[in-house]
Amino acid sequence: MIKENIKDALNKQINAELYSAYLYLSMSAYFSSINLKGFASWMRVQAREEFGHAMKFFDYLQERGGRVKLTAIQEPPSDWEFPLQLFEQVYEHEQKVTAMIDELVNIAQSEKDHATNNFLQWFVAEQVEEESSADEIVQRLKLIKDTKSGLFMLDQKLGQRPAK
Ligand code: FEO
Repeated sequence: MIKENIKDALNKQINAELYSAYLYLSMSAYFSSINLKGFASWMRVQAREEFGHAMKFFDYLQERGGRVKLTAIQEPPSDWEFPLQLFEQVYEHEQKVTAMIDELVNIAQSEKDHATNNFLQWFVAEQVEEESSADEIVQRLKLIKDTKSGLFMLDQKLGQRPAK
């Protein structure tokens, strides 16, 4: 049986991952509204990936005999001034999620919960990828500035991200 504080922390993470899905879906809607369909599609794939993260926690908690408790998801922002500002927020958000995962690892290790610690290692690796892909897009957007042709090319490229 999973310890109470670990159960609570995992439930909190389910909410955080669902918020991430909600945030990226909102960003997808924003990109659709300014006709950047490739960016919109990339965000939609990202939102689905976040839902998948939430479900990994959901399933793991239940597998350990813990009770899942879903709580209200915070309303995400819905407007941004330009794509670079938005992706800077994505990068910051992913850094926040990394800090949450690291804190979960700390709790699991201090409680000597080896199974949870082992489960969390997938997320430790995933966060390296999440931060790096957000940062890569931030850097590209900085190079492009807001030239229309640059945005168009990046839009084409991001639109090729396959749905998982
Ligand atoms: Fe679920 Fe983007 O971290």
